[in-house]
Amino acid sequence: MIPKSILINIRKMFRIWGRSTTKACYGLDPIEKEGPMKSDSRAVLASGLEGVIAAETRLSAVDGAAGELIIAGFPVEELAGRATFEEVVYLLWHDALPDPAELAAFRGELGAHRVLPRATLELLRAAAAEGAPAMDALRMAAGTVSLGGADDPYAEALVLVARLPTIVAAYWRLLNGDEPVAPDPELGHAANYLYMLTGEEPGAESVRALETYLNTVADHGMNASTFAARVIVATRSDVVSAIVGAIGALKGPLHGGAPGPALDVVFEIGESGRAEAVLREKLGRGERLMGFGHRIYKVRDPRADVLAAAAERLYATDGDEELYKLALEVEKTALEVLAGHKPGRKLQTNVEFYTALLLHGLGLPAELFSPTFAVARVAGWTAHSFEQQVLDRLIRPQSAYVGEKDRRWVPLEER
Ligand code: ACO
Repeated sequence: MIPKSILINIRKMFRIWGRSTTKACYGLDPIEKEGPMKSDSRAVLASGLEGVIAAETRLSAVDGAAGELIIAGFPVEELAGRATFEEVVYLLWHDALPDPAELAAFRGELGAHRVLPRATLELLRAAAAEGAPAMDALRMAAGTVSLGGADDPYAEALVLVARLPTIVAAYWRLLNGDEPVAPDPELGHAANYLYMLTGEEPGAESVRALETYLNTVADHGMNASTFAARVIVATRSDVVSAIVGAIGALKGPLHGGAPGPALDVVFEIGESGRAEAVLREKLGRGERLMGFGHRIYKVRDPRADVLAAAAERLYATDGDEELYKLALEVEKTALEVLAGHKPGRKLQTNVEFYTALLLHGLGLPAELFSPTFAVARVAGWTAHSFEQQVLDRLIRPQSAYVGEKDRRWVPLEER
């Protein structure tokens, strides 16, 4: 069952906004309101669903023109650097920050589910033996949450949030020939992730930097993976299926798969003064510059600022400051080159560019950038799943048929 407090908050939200409040997500004018089309003639062809509002949400608002992101009422700049990840998950699920007792109880609930059951570990060992990519291993292992009796939406969501970091850390160690490190019940969610990866208790700076990252990307409107999750839940399927589908959507290089390649470019450039030539050559070959451009943001992604500031702090205390400076130069040059290459397209830095730098500064390998994104975004996916379950409306767009219409059957022997 979804806890009563979550249901009450979601129902309250729908009462306040009413079904006619189609501009609740600001920055977009809807083409069609939610609900069945009266006739096909009213349908609009938008192959990327641009300009379509598929749901009302209280979880996050993305203003692509102003470059603003609000997470459950908080500007991202206000929340990300202060909250623990547990507080952000609680906020998304309950629409309120927890008080100390609620936070302690929630941390306890998550801690109780962090350890991996044998079936999950066996699957990860099999995946490691085949050298499966980390996102594939994560997708397969997330599905094992269906084993073991977490059979209501809240219980499933809790186990998923708790277990995703354990899965990623265990898999990475197995892939590298090491045994998994069990979670430490004394440590919080972010600290545990770093601990389970390395076997060493992380410093406060590192935990803060990771927590800032997790909070910054915890939810982001109707992005592709969130939409995938909502489509699955909208069929009255379960939360585990929704999160497995969302992980599959996040894996793609146009969504959550960009930070690794973004950092590769910085390494390829390698030294000051080379950025322009390398970037122009890439664009000349028809490649896209990873970490730049966004479907919604036409100004700088506000998450890039939050993560750039966190990366600057991290690299100043504990890192390769030269790499940080080079990344700044690459970003500046990329923006200049893109402005000339695609005038009027308003291609700006997106979240992935500084994600790569920050996670690299934390010692994470590039293969774990996308899985770590999933560790964060599962907060939003599960919260959206709750919302969609309450909305209980099948998501079912149409397609415009452009194929033949009057073919006649030809028997096999005559073809
Ligand atoms: N480098 C070079 N050209 C680009 C880039 C880029 N990074 N991004 C867009 N363009 C060009 C496109 O080729 C296109 O040109 P055209 O109209 O002349 O054909 C134009 O700009 C518009 O691009 P679209 O693909 O139509 O824009 P869309 O809104 O669909 O794309 C996307 C957004 C997919 C993020 C795109 O900007 C991109 O591929 N960026 C690189 C990958 C990346 O960084 N992804 C992470 C996004 S953040 C996230 O999902 C968490």
